Amino acid sequence: MTIQPYGGALVDRVASSSEAAELRAAAAELPAVQISPWTLSDLYLIAVGGLSPLDGFMDRDAYARVVDAMMLPGGLPWSIPVVLPVSDEEAASISVGQGVALYAPDGKMAAVVDVTDVFDRDRDREAAAVFRTSDQAHPGVAAMYRMGGRCVAGPIRYVYEEDITGFPDDNLTPAQTRAAFAERGWETAVAFQTRNPIHRAHEYIQKCALEVVDGLLVHPLVGETKSDDIPADVRMECYRVLLDGYYPADRVMLSVLPAAMRYAGPREAIFHSIMRRNYGCSHFIVGRDHAGVGDYYGTYDAQKIFDQIDLDALGIEPMKFEHSFYCLRTKQMATPKTSPASMDERVFLSGTKVREMLSRGESPPEEFTRPEIAAILMKSYQARQPAG
Ligand code: ADX
Repeated sequence: MTIQPYGGALVDRVASSSEAAELRAAAAELPAVQISPWTLSDLYLIAVGGLSPLDGFMDRDAYARVVDAMMLPGGLPWSIPVVLPVSDEEAASISVGQGVALYAPDGKMAAVVDVTDVFDRDRDREAAAVFRTSDQAHPGVAAMYRMGGRCVAGPIRYVYEEDITGFPDDNLTPAQTRAAFAERGWETAVAFQTRNPIHRAHEYIQKCALEVVDGLLVHPLVGETKSDDIPADVRMECYRVLLDGYYPADRVMLSVLPAAMRYAGPREAIFHSIMRRNYGCSHFIVGRDHAGVGDYYGTYDAQKIFDQIDLDALGIEPMKFEHSFYCLRTKQMATPKTSPASMDERVFLSGTKVREMLSRGESPPEEFTRPEIAAILMKSYQARQPAG
């Protein structure tokens, strides 16, 4: 059974070479907008179908429906606005019915948008609904307020030829992951979203999931993350070493997701699952505090939000896991569902705790991470310490 892309068909907005040549030639006449790495991530994901059925940036109607009702105008569940932010000055030169040329941070042309709408972004409303806070200390809220306050909508045609991830060999498009699953004979596949090195709790819930589905797609997010998160190149080294040593090669795949991290907790969990459906997955892991930051969200809010949406329409099954820990009594990974241990026999792990230990120069113990991973993390932290 193949998992249908969201909305029924995989969007492909990557221009052919002849179309790209025409678009480039015509671009000199168009208003130009320089986009951020964040917007380039969104643009790329639209182009390759990761955000199907979106074929471009949202207009005011879609934006309002997504913010207020968590759905697209056609009724499909959708939780996070995908917009092209511009400044007031840029917006002044852009009109509906025309094209706009988008330029990547390196100055190369990235896409053309056929403009269908230009509108104000209601950032206060979006912060309250999507992030559940107006606190500008929240990294997703802060990022939104740093962007321009107007939005340009319309379908895109993508002409950028550079890799946007830093990991071109590990960046499979949705069409490519789908083909890879089919080649391996996987009828069901579970996706694992992560922005951290894989620690023992991650490994435990992945392997529980792998007991019930055919394959595991380890799908680390490698777009923009907050500055104290572990850099993607270090994480990738950890994922490769872990997968080589501790996972059956024919049941697991590693590929990157070039999305920006919003830290929107529950709303982002749905967004993450929709993208993974487009990449061909039937299941999606949602553990504790998924896509959370600080204490803006409850431990299981990102699981509870799935109760508010039409799961048949979503078409990818959330696999929910309780807070897992190393159990000193049974000497294995466990959750409250499987362990009889008292609280003081539970060693709780988190990416944050690992980062704290590393910054103190301490190697995380084996209950936290596999020793090979601890060694990579220690090396990278030591290399980043200022000399002296
Ligand atoms: S996230 O921002 O990408 O969600 P992270 O990489 O830490 O952060 O988590 C990846 C996935 O593992 C998420 O689904 C998260 O809920 C889950 N997870 C992380 N730590 C634990 C844990 N100790 N117990 C259960 N699930 C966890």
